[in-house]
Amino acid sequence: MAIRNIRQMGDPVLTKVCKDVKDVSERTKELISDMFDTMYEAEGVGLAAPQVGILKRIFVVDVTGEDPILFINPEILETSGEQTGYEGCLSVEGKTGMVTRPDHVKVKAHDINMNEFEMEADGFLARAILHENDHLNGHLYVEKVEGPLLTNEELQQILEQSKEDEED
Ligand code: NI
Repeated sequence: MAIRNIRQMGDPVLTKVCKDVKDVSERTKELISDMFDTMYEAEGVGLAAPQVGILKRIFVVDVTGEDPILFINPEILETSGEQTGYEGCLSVEGKTGMVTRPDHVKVKAHDINMNEFEMEADGFLARAILHENDHLNGHLYVEKVEGPLLTNEELQQILEQSKEDEED
């Protein structure tokens, strides 16, 4: 198990377009394993290779803590619908922002054996896939944020306020 250093916003590696993976070498397998370890250690739901400084088209997600999914050379085939909600990123530590994204995604990718698979996802999983896929093209969610980037404290206040409003 190896935890890699997560690059933070401002690091130029996060703005680069990543390259396709041609074959999964031992080194790439180690990278993938480290990416899962690093994501779980940081309590994230997704991590893309450029976030650990590697410009390869690879990302991992696990939105439940029990459903790890690896995407190699992902391709978004279709999106539909719309969802608006708070989003964060391990490369933008301690911040949250409101982002609107499609609510449904159909994606094609390769697994660890370079076998192609297709999957469809809705809601939070769709959000995570689209967020991570953006990383592979050098984009961060902050480019899509509506309104201010909130600190955890500010977010907490807003959530408490809306709870009080509901109770009124
Ligand atoms: Ni991110």
